[in-house]
Amino acid sequence: MPPHAPSIRRLLVLPHLLLLLVIPALADVPGRFPSPRPGASAGAGVGNAPAQEYLDPTYPAPRPPPWAPSCVVPVLSYSFANTYGAPPATGQYAPPAGCPAPWSLVVLSFSAAIAGDQYDRVAAVWLDGAELLRTTTAEPTPDGIRWTVRKDVTRHSSLLRSPTGGVISVMLENLVNDQYTGIYNVSVSLEFHGAPAYLAGAGSSSSSAGIPRNPPTPTLPESYFQPADLILPISEATSNSSGFWFRIQNSTDSRSKLVTIPSNTYRAVLEVFVSPHSNDEFWYSNPPDIYIRENNLTTGRGNAAYREVVVRVDSYLAGSFVPFPVIYTGGINPLFWQPVAALGAFNLPTYDIELTPFLGVLVDGGAHEIALSVVDGIAEWLVDANLHLWLDPASSSVSAALGRYSTPRLSITRRYSTWLLDGSFEIRAKRKSRVSGWVKSSFGNLSTEVETELEATSTVEFTNEGRNKTVRLQAKQEAEVTVRSSETGKKVGKVETEAKFPLWVEMVTEDGENGTYVMKVNLTHSLRVETGVEAEGLFERETKLADEQAAEGWMLVRDHDVLNGSAATTQSYRYSDDAGRYERAIDTLDGAVFSDNVTESYRALDVVAANACCRGRRCRGMVAAKCPDIAAM
Ligand SMILES: *[C@@H]1O[C@H](CO)[C@@H](O)[C@H](O)[C@H]1NC(C)=O
Ligand SMILES: *[C@@H]1O[C@H](CO)[C@@H](O)[C@H](O)[C@H]1NC(C)=O
Ligand SMILES: *[C@@H]1O[C@H](CO)[C@@H](O)[C@H](O)[C@H]1NC(C)=O
Ligand SMILES: *[C@@H]1O[C@H](CO)[C@@H](O)[C@H](O)[C@H]1NC(C)=O
Ligand SMILES: *[C@@H]1O[C@H](CO)[C@@H](O)[C@H](O)[C@H]1NC(C)=O
Ligand SMILES: *[C@@H]1O[C@H](CO)[C@@H](O)[C@H](O)[C@H]1NC(C)=O
Ligand SMILES: *[C@@H]1O[C@H](CO)[C@@H](O)[C@H](O)[C@H]1NC(C)=O
Ligand SMILES: *[C@@H]1O[C@H](CO)[C@@H](O)[C@H](O)[C@H]1NC(C)=O
Ligand SMILES: *[C@@H]1O[C@H](CO)[C@@H](O)[C@H](O)[C@H]1NC(C)=O
Ligand SMILES: *[C@@H]1O[C@H](CO)[C@@H](O)[C@H](O)[C@H]1NC(C)=O
Repeated sequence: MPPHAPSIRRLLVLPHLLLLLVIPALADVPGRFPSPRPGASAGAGVGNAPAQEYLDPTYPAPRPPPWAPSCVVPVLSYSFANTYGAPPATGQYAPPAGCPAPWSLVVLSFSAAIAGDQYDRVAAVWLDGAELLRTTTAEPTPDGIRWTVRKDVTRHSSLLRSPTGGVISVMLENLVNDQYTGIYNVSVSLEFHGAPAYLAGAGSSSSSAGIPRNPPTPTLPESYFQPADLILPISEATSNSSGFWFRIQNSTDSRSKLVTIPSNTYRAVLEVFVSPHSNDEFWYSNPPDIYIRENNLTTGRGNAAYREVVVRVDSYLAGSFVPFPVIYTGGINPLFWQPVAALGAFNLPTYDIELTPFLGVLVDGGAHEIALSVVDGIAEWLVDANLHLWLDPASSSVSAALGRYSTPRLSITRRYSTWLLDGSFEIRAKRKSRVSGWVKSSFGNLSTEVETELEATSTVEFTNEGRNKTVRLQAKQEAEVTVRSSETGKKVGKVETEAKFPLWVEMVTEDGENGTYVMKVNLTHSLRVETGVEAEGLFERETKLADEQAAEGWMLVRDHDVLNGSAATTQSYRYSDDAGRYERAIDTLDGAVFSDNVTESYRALDVVAANACCRGRRCRGMVAAKCPDIAAM
């Protein structure tokens, strides 16, 4: 009788296993034992231990400035039982009377508790169809688990401050039956923090007093670095049982929305949410179809291991990115993600595409199409976006034109070789783009140039008659946004971003006794993002994030049940900016945290400078980004 069997659903099944087990392994609802996980101490009583807290160690949402009013608005509390195919749960939201906008900080808090046996699920929170959070759930234990995701949603202030409020929707499709008993209890609230007294009067983004007309040497307006004035959802228009997200099924499936934007828009950024599921959940490890065909495999997890999400504005390819490979909590070896979730699993990364150069196309008062698609994608991808727009406070229209543009080409080379169940599949992809456009607003005639470069190498290798598998993904994306005075060519601002996310997985399967097999996995992955912002005459800042995990472990599996196993995961999270640094390192072994170190430091000089900045209007851009950090001292 197998003593331990944690929830398990998603195994990256090696080909010889596919031959043996493919049908049950890929079935939607595999059988499992609802028992505690391996390695749990023998004394852990089933059903009477306190719920264990799961976590995703990231930067704690910036702490609010001291002495500022704060309010918590509970918006929804719901038990997601048999919610598959049902419309999202909804709650009415109204902005807090005691904490009027503008806010220095708004935090969305998503808390979940669950006991029993259940799969991991994807979920999202929308406000009137505009997504605020994409998340996936942890898989429960019989004793129960709980966790809280806190996300800084200050940039969504314009949606939140509408006096009439709106409808918060949460979709989490779950199935409950005799075997899968877990019900996700979810509560969502919003925390608002006002501006502290020393900032009061610094004004909202719509403050326009004193903006000179046609300034001789334009600077970026303060509002440029503040939350957008208007956000338009690029999502399904009605939320019936399908949810607000677009469900993308294949590489030619492009989903779009027609939008008409205000004619005084001077800046536009598209924020994209994306999560792959079903046959593309592990897209970075999918072999090409030729390998599946030649070996008579029946898996649908094919189409090779490159994916890129593409954004179009009418006929223009306006941006693209390789999505960060988020591993959900049942993924690869579920023992790795107890109780520390994989990078981004609780708060999936979002991707910003600078669309300001395309305002020449968009501000004509007509309807324009914003479309999303996935290069080489197979079913299915849940994708939607928010269009953030900044409006000229002193004029009812801007004039604008698209400048230099040529369709950025994807150059891709594929090297495949197969020998029965052995095979080696390498893909190298590169896309470079450069686009510019000018916008003449009351801030002057400013040209925005966006240069991006995306480079990815993906390798999937099978050896040892398909029993050993190695997956390697190296993705690097760079974006440089430069704003210049159109008249003088003088630079007035620049934002540079570099993101890298290497992933390496090495797995070996060995036949065990009695129809079992042992799977051993080593895994490392990381998310590294560096950003530099310069606003001439206003401020400069740099932020660096390096979030890394390494995991090693084995599991004994029969059908889809983990009978035994052991896993160790180390997590290292490092964030720094001009004001200081935050680091957290966690080691886990067999479901328990055995070491958790936090190091924080703040630079005194910067604190003085930034405090001075907080009090003055000149460094308004800095205020939004830095004062909360300083308050953390
Ligand atoms: C979920 O909510 C129900 C109803 O309030 C409660 O009975 C149950 O204990 C909760 N489950 C967990 C894991 O907290
Ligand atoms: C839900 O809405 C989408 C988009 O409006 C539509 O394509 C789909 O058919 C609708 N589904 C149902 C079940 O009504
Ligand atoms: C791609 O998906 C769309 C939407 O489901 C469908 O209409 C279309 O036929 C599919 N195309 C191919 C080539 O499968
Ligand atoms: C795949 O199936 C075909 C037809 O049944 C058979 O001829 C071929 O040998 C099989 N290939 C492998 C690798 O099993
Ligand atoms: C497969 O992995 C095992 C265990 O790491 C190793 O001993 C063996 O050499 C590998 N075989 C091949 C062909 O890579
Ligand atoms: C803005 O600058 C661009 C580039 O120099 C120029 O072509 C355009 O005519 C200017 N627009 C206005 C309204 O002055
Ligand atoms: C093999 O599995 C069968 C069925 O699960 C069980 O009855 C038997 O005792 C097992 N044998 C060994 C040696 O574990
Ligand atoms: C994992 O790494 C250890 C050493 O760090 C090595 O001994 C082991 O063979 C590796 N396992 C796999 C599956 O590659
Ligand atoms: C699980 O594996 C460990 C290490 O091989 C072994 O000591 C232990 O007895 C196994 N537990 C069970 C219940 O088989
Ligand atoms: C935490 O600090 C202790 C003491 O310095 C050290 O032994 C341990 O390895 C550290 N843990 C991590 C995860 O870095």
